[in-house]
Amino acid sequence: MQLPAQRDTSDVFNSASTGDSAGSFSLVGSGLGRVRALIDEELSRCSEAVRGLLAGLHWDRGKMIRPGLVLLSGLACGRITQEHIRVAAIVEMIHNATLLHDDVIDEGRHRRGYATVNSLRGNECAVLLGDFVLSKVFEMCVELDKSVTGVIASAAARTCEGELRQTLERENGQLSESAYIELISEKSAALFRAGCSLGASLAGADERQREAFAEFGRDIGIAFQITDDLLDMTGNERQMGKTVGRDIDREKMTLPVIHFLRTADEASKDSVKELLQVSGRRGDGKAAETNEKKYLIEKLESCGSLSYTRKRAEELIERAISALGEVEQSDAKAALIETARFVVRRTN
Ligand code: IPE
Ligand code: IPE
Ligand code: MG
Ligand code: MG
Ligand code: MG
Repeated sequence: MQLPAQRDTSDVFNSASTGDSAGSFSLVGSGLGRVRALIDEELSRCSEAVRGLLAGLHWDRGKMIRPGLVLLSGLACGRITQEHIRVAAIVEMIHNATLLHDDVIDEGRHRRGYATVNSLRGNECAVLLGDFVLSKVFEMCVELDKSVTGVIASAAARTCEGELRQTLERENGQLSESAYIELISEKSAALFRAGCSLGASLAGADERQREAFAEFGRDIGIAFQITDDLLDMTGNERQMGKTVGRDIDREKMTLPVIHFLRTADEASKDSVKELLQVSGRRGDGKAAETNEKKYLIEKLESCGSLSYTRKRAEELIERAISALGEVEQSDAKAALIETARFVVRRTN
C-alpha cells in the first residue's frame, strides 16, 4: 500500500527522532519488514480517503517493540513462521488502534513526531479509524487457529478494560500502588504478554516455556508503562515526539504521584494535590511546560518518588529476564534481554 505522507509542515516535532528499538531487533529486521508489508497489504483494501487518514498514523515511525518481541520470542524457541508474521502484525495493529483512541481520550496533539489524527481531522475520524483498524484485525484473525485468536481476543479485552479502569480512577488520590500495577498490567502489559507467549507457542514451545515467555512479556509491559508514565512527567516532548504532561492534566494517578502521596508530609501532599487539581480543572496542557511542572518534579524528586519509580521499573526488568532463566542461550535470547533493558532506558 502506498500510504501517502501527511506531514504537518508547520510542526516543530517533525525533527523528533523515533524509530526501531535500539539495535536489538536487527536479528528480526527482515521479519519486521514482512510485518510492515502485511499491515500495508491488509489496510490497503479501502477507499483513498481512508488511506489518507491511515497515513496520519505514521506506522513507519513507531518503535515496533511489540511485533519485535513476538518475532524474537519465536526465534528463541525455534523458527519464525508465517503465523508469527500475522500475529506480530495483529499485535501492532491493535496497539495502533488503541493509540488512536488514547489520543482522543488524552487530547494528544502529537504522536511519532507528527500532529495526531484527532488534532488534524477531529475526534470522530480518529475514533472511527481506530474501529476500522480493529475490524481489519478481526478479518485477519479468521486465518489463525482458535487457540491463538483466543489469546489475542482476551488481550484486547484486557487492554480496553485497563483504559476504562484508568478513566474511572482519575482523581483518586487513594489509589494504591498495587491497584496501579494491576491497572497497567491490563492496559499495557496484556498485549506484551500475549505477544511473547504466542511468539513462543507458535514456535513449538511447551507449556512451561510458554508460561516463562508470558511472564517475561507481562513484566516488560508493566515496566514499559511505568517508564512511560515517568517520561510523561520528566521526558522531553520533542525527543518523545508526542504530547507529554497529560497524566498531570488529567489527574491520572501514576507511580511517582502515588509514592509521593504515600510518603510526603501533609503540607507537601496538600500543595501537590492542589496543583494537580488546578491543572486538571484547567486541562489545557500548560502544566507540562510551566513552573507548575517544575515545582511538581522538584517535590517528587525531593521525596525520592522519581528514583523509587525508576527502581521499580528496573526491578521488573530484572524479574522479566530471570523468567527466561531456563531458556537456552541464543542470539535471540540475548536480543530479548537487550530489548528488556532498552524498555527502561528509552527516551522516546
Ligand atoms: C506508546 O507505546 C503507548 C504506551 C503503551 C505507553 P509505544 O511507545 O510503543 O509507541 P510507538 O508505537 O513506538 O509509537
Ligand atoms: C496508553 O497509555 C496505553 C494504551 C493502552 C493506549 P498513555 O496514554 O500513557 O500512552 P501515551 O503516553 O499517550 O503514548
Ligand atoms: Mg492514556
Ligand atoms: Mg496518552
Ligand atoms: Mg503516557
